[in-house]
Amino acid sequence: MNSDIQSIVLSEKQIAEKVEKAAKWLDAKFEGTQSVPLMISVLKGSVMFFCDLVRAMDTPVQIDFMTVSSYGSSSESSGMPRIVMDLAASVEGRDVVLVEDIVDSGNTLVKMRDLISGRGAKSFTVVTLFDKPSRRTVNVSADYSCFEIGNEFIVGYGLDYAQKYRNLPYVGILKREIYEK
Ligand code: PRP
Repeated sequence: MNSDIQSIVLSEKQIAEKVEKAAKWLDAKFEGTQSVPLMISVLKGSVMFFCDLVRAMDTPVQIDFMTVSSYGSSSESSGMPRIVMDLAASVEGRDVVLVEDIVDSGNTLVKMRDLISGRGAKSFTVVTLFDKPSRRTVNVSADYSCFEIGNEFIVGYGLDYAQKYRNLPYVGILKREIYEK
């Protein structure tokens, strides 16, 4: 698996430092709030980031999961995210924090925002590990982004290519020959 990686973009240590900062930002945001925020992991890409993020927070939170998919097995987004698995919890009246691994075209975020607002959430906050603003096709942005990146095709720490490489502990750029085969 490691031999498919051209270069490492973020080491485990660099990721951990950014996760810690994001957790502190959320703790400050919810300081003094009586209600318990509902943290939602958008599966599958955000799972590693999500687990590290909630464990780095002091704020008591509840967690839930939603599987949304738009890439299939290609490296290009289809532009039509599908809900593969819905939440278990109700979001009505809740402070919702959506945790993403990457905001690319923004289609997934728009879909989630409309859905969660439509279900009556009190507030909606988006935290993403990566933001690719140059790829945006819809006008949407995260409230907190750990890293802004260009158009590199990155994998690892939850991010995949054809469902592989999610379990790399770091984030790297895939060798071109892997996805141009
Ligand atoms: C990826 C990523 C985001 C979304 C971002 O998910 O996890 O949810 O795409 O792209 P967008 O801004 O263009 O909508 P993907 O559909 O690949 O599913 P995965 O999380 O299971 O990898």
